[in-house]
Amino acid sequence: MKITVEKFLKTTTLTGEALALAAHAPKGKKKVQVEGDLAELDNQLSGLISETIKEEDFQFKLGKTLVIRLSSQNPNLKNHKNLKKIILVGLGPKDKFDSNNERKAVASLIRVASKVEKLAVRCFGQAAMLAELAILLNYKFERYKTNDKNNGKGKELKELTILVDELTGPIKQLVKEAQVIAESTAIARDLVWEPACEVTPAYLAKQARKIAAGKTNPLKLKILEQKDCEKLGMGAYLAVAQGSDEPPKFIEFSYKPTGKIRKHIALVGKGVTFDSGGLSLKPSKAMEMMKEDMSGSAAIMGIMSAVARLKPKGIQITAIVAATENMPSGKAYKPGDVITAMNGKTIEVNNTDAEGRLTLADAVAYVSKKNPDEIIDFATLTGACMVALGNVCAGIMTNNQELLDRVKTSADEVGELMWQLPLYEEYKESLKSEIADLINAGSKGKAGAQNGGLFVGEFIGKQKGSDEPIPWLHIDIAGPCWFDQPMDWSPKGASGIPVRTIMNYLLSS
Ligand code: BES
Ligand code: MG
Ligand code: ZN
Repeated sequence: MKITVEKFLKTTTLTGEALALAAHAPKGKKKVQVEGDLAELDNQLSGLISETIKEEDFQFKLGKTLVIRLSSQNPNLKNHKNLKKIILVGLGPKDKFDSNNERKAVASLIRVASKVEKLAVRCFGQAAMLAELAILLNYKFERYKTNDKNNGKGKELKELTILVDELTGPIKQLVKEAQVIAESTAIARDLVWEPACEVTPAYLAKQARKIAAGKTNPLKLKILEQKDCEKLGMGAYLAVAQGSDEPPKFIEFSYKPTGKIRKHIALVGKGVTFDSGGLSLKPSKAMEMMKEDMSGSAAIMGIMSAVARLKPKGIQITAIVAATENMPSGKAYKPGDVITAMNGKTIEVNNTDAEGRLTLADAVAYVSKKNPDEIIDFATLTGACMVALGNVCAGIMTNNQELLDRVKTSADEVGELMWQLPLYEEYKESLKSEIADLINAGSKGKAGAQNGGLFVGEFIGKQKGSDEPIPWLHIDIAGPCWFDQPMDWSPKGASGIPVRTIMNYLLSS
């Protein structure tokens, strides 16, 4: 999508078919006033806008839109020859207008304008939010549709012009960032939509190579094969992989900024490209969507492609995906097996379907050795998290409240819903095994999301020269990796969570 930002002038010439203008709802029982730019345009149109507002009793309530069609030739609109529609957008009461309400208003505008090829918007808040949502909400995955695919013929939003009061450097930069982040979210979504017959661990490795390619690319990439992982003692990750015919791929991106490094952040994404449950086989209904079990790794790919393009200052990033399938077979790991993770801890496997935490165990143990200042993992880890928080919200868990609060703020700012679940010491009782150091699915259906979180936490290393663990945040995205309903920032289907939260966090760290 082509997105441009221009300074709005009374003499601005619009080339597009539609112009969107927004206004707040009047206070109390007051009547709607047509003011400012709207009044100007209303004059040129001999009162068409104010008349339509009256006729339709349009109140500028939050997220309501009104499309006014213009007669083909209006001599007074000589500046805007192709203009066919004016779209009015309600912002609701001014005193209640916050970032979330702004997102709702922008979303309804973008949705009503989805078939306008060239849209101009008189900016009413953050230009970056307009740019971001224009891309995020017009996302489609049509690769496998042979009939009703657009094939470039159907009308869709192709060009967005944002008309701002003052065209400043920071606005241009924010719009560029928003565009890159939205395009990177689409990379994550594509990978989640794509079926598991296509997206194998090898496919993820190939995708990683693409993202790190090019002479001037600031990313370094290392891919560990099964043999390399054996040498490192990754017995937990490899146990999951051993039932599959697809070889595992352990993917490691690293990024170092030019100039001073303030902080080293490690990211880990769950990359189970298909989760059948293994020998603890899932029932068919529960297996249907298990291509989505690599959503964490999809987010890593999106984030690192955004990092490559935006080159954030001051932070070093290490990003890990321990990619594998979880399959039943004659070679598969079995309930009752005892395995040893890279940090030496032994694990009794009572359920081969609690595989994500095993792959993460070795991934976080591995990255801990690089002494990062903090570790953030995102994983479609538990159905229990969906039971607790529903489909729209991620569960966040931590050993460091400050880290959680900072990431939660970043999530709130971009509208990704996340809610904290506690990791009480008392829950740790359910990690205990009779035969080994830990058991992988011991909570017997109680506090399942926290049990998964606590298990991963056992593999977080210590801070250098201290007995304290590295600050760590766990984001369980089993619910919101896939939306069953359209959201303010996403159509139905793969969401690309938490690319936007993490990018917001990285760019403000
Ligand atoms: N990948 C699943 C979790 C999941 C469920 C993700 C639904 C997305 C949608 C995970 O590997 C799993 O199977 N977890 C088990 C854990 C249990 C055996 C302790 C679960 O949630 O049932
Ligand atoms: Mg599973
Ligand atoms: Zn899984």
